[in-house]
Amino acid sequence: MKLSNLNSLMLTVSFLTFSSAQKILDASPLITSSNSEFGGAIEGASVDVNGNIFATNFDAKLFNVGRITPSQSLYHTSTSLGTKFNGIRFIPLTKSQVDQGIKSVAFLANVNENQIAKIVEDKDGKIEQSSFCQDQTLSLPNDVAFSYLHDKIYISAQNFTEDTVIGDGGLWICDGKSGETMKLESFGRTNGVEVSPDETTLYLSEAFNKDAKVISNKIWKFDIDQSTGKVSNQALFVDFEKLDGTQAIDVDGMRTDIDGNLYVTRHGEGQVVVFSSKGSIISRVKLSSIIKTTNLEFGGKDGKTLFVVGACKDDDTKGCVDTVQNDVLGRAFSALKSLNGKR
Ligand SMILES: *[C@@H]1O[C@H](CO)[C@@H](O)[C@H](O)[C@H]1NC(C)=O
Repeated sequence: MKLSNLNSLMLTVSFLTFSSAQKILDASPLITSSNSEFGGAIEGASVDVNGNIFATNFDAKLFNVGRITPSQSLYHTSTSLGTKFNGIRFIPLTKSQVDQGIKSVAFLANVNENQIAKIVEDKDGKIEQSSFCQDQTLSLPNDVAFSYLHDKIYISAQNFTEDTVIGDGGLWICDGKSGETMKLESFGRTNGVEVSPDETTLYLSEAFNKDAKVISNKIWKFDIDQSTGKVSNQALFVDFEKLDGTQAIDVDGMRTDIDGNLYVTRHGEGQVVVFSSKGSIISRVKLSSIIKTTNLEFGGKDGKTLFVVGACKDDDTKGCVDTVQNDVLGRAFSALKSLNGKR
């Protein structure tokens, strides 16, 4: 055996040992190609204060948002048919909004129109949409995260070019009250974005293409300044090349639970990878009906069911949803429950 063969054998053996130590969880199908009312561009899984789950691309329209639970139905159609909704976050209502009977408020990345839209659902279920975060530098916003303590919206973006350059993506911060938006930094393609439950850490994924192939996927972490919400001390959280050689598989939506674990969708691997806040893998969730996993969120009655969305494996014109039962509560649901109507 040549030395190079021996080396690759040893690598294989150590990789297998490594993989088998991780917990593998199997997700169950909730919405499949045979009953889906969502299109294959399903994205932006999100949760409201009641634990109901929403996503984009209802009726295969990029400008629609639909309910996944309690049952599939249209939730909102954009005021502009040029809209492409992507990441979505519901935010806690203020006391005065609750007193007015307002049902929900959410921020939605509107990719094609370079803005974050705000929707407000009144007591009769009528939804008003406005353009909320806008800035000359904001181009192709992708996903959004929310700081409940500081009332800030974090925005990722990506221009999927053949050869990624710094500036094809970035990180923006938008004030949740005024809508004032500022670019914090330029990056390669940025996608998944999430805040730790104690709101001291921001996670952001960054990917690079070369000659139309994906060559790098990393997750960075930053410290969040507790007075301004701005970020600093960029540090590597995960490099998928070093971790398991899956740098060609994109990171998509990310979410934290209340223990600070980070749930990461891998678009093209039919998997969610769960990291501890220290960056070690806790488990891998194997999806049932999805390969191109786009986003995820915790919901259900107790906020412990993880809903994962993406194009169906057996028919990528349809949007599928898988679920897996978790033992820890999702951060967004927990924050909505504890803060709704309190401020
Ligand atoms: C994306 O990048 C390409 C190549 O640099 C550029 O031509 C295009 O205008 C960019 N698109 C947007 C929306 O910024």
